[in-house]
Amino acid sequence: MTHASGHASEHASEHPPGHGGPDAAAFWEERYLTHRDESGKMWSGRVNPAVAREVAELAPGTALELGSGEGADALWIAARGWTVTALDISPAALAVGAKEAAARGLADRIAWVQEDLVVWRPTAEYDLVTSAFFHSPFDFPREQILRRAAGAVAPGGRLLVVGHGAPPPGSNHDHAMEGPPLPTSDEVLASLELPTDWVVETNTLVERAITLPDGTETAVADTVLRVRRPSR
Ligand SMILES: C[S@@+](CC[C@H](N)C(=O)[O-])C[C@H]1O[C@@H](n2cnc3c(N)ncnc32)[C@H](O)[C@@H]1O
Repeated sequence: MTHASGHASEHASEHPPGHGGPDAAAFWEERYLTHRDESGKMWSGRVNPAVAREVAELAPGTALELGSGEGADALWIAARGWTVTALDISPAALAVGAKEAAARGLADRIAWVQEDLVVWRPTAEYDLVTSAFFHSPFDFPREQILRRAAGAVAPGGRLLVVGHGAPPPGSNHDHAMEGPPLPTSDEVLASLELPTDWVVETNTLVERAITLPDGTETAVADTVLRVRRPSR
């Protein structure tokens, strides 16, 4: 996760509202609107390093991103020749991405689509389906959503899931994730219930150095899972 001042959830501040319910959209929209820096962004605009590493070696095609936020990953992927569909629940976040895409001459490469992934059903297949730090303080069916995402991978394509391996320092994730703990990449893999002919290409925990808003250097751990659907 690429927060404007460093890492993802380094706004230690507010506690999220209660789990579940329809106010996820309002929560995220409010968060994006009120945590902006002077450039109008909540996150840094830098691609997540694990996403860059995992996607750099792939031949471009069509990509779908779940929970794109302000689109740093979508923009990076599109700049490498992919055609990207970026889905997020927050119109404010998507608007930041769309503005940046226009500024970088990538507008025709990325579709920004407001979507509540809890009710989303894939309608197409993609060479890459990716999600980074698709976590939420709401008690949402992440495993189910990722299983549906696997169903949107085209033959020969990949699903990439990058997540927090532990609550990021200063975040409210430890409070917010009172339900199930953050899953390991093994647990994500198991929850996908993939057919046995899918190939696990990456399944690891990677440490990453970050600078906290107070200037302190620390490390966070990201879970990284990349699986490939066999070609027909
Ligand atoms: C922790 S942020 C990660 C954003 C981005 N992937 C990144 O790495 O910077 C989680 C994102 O998931 C989105 N999100 C949360 N619940 C969602 C839902 N039900 N449907 C679609 N997007 C959702 C939020 O709006 C937010 O942008």
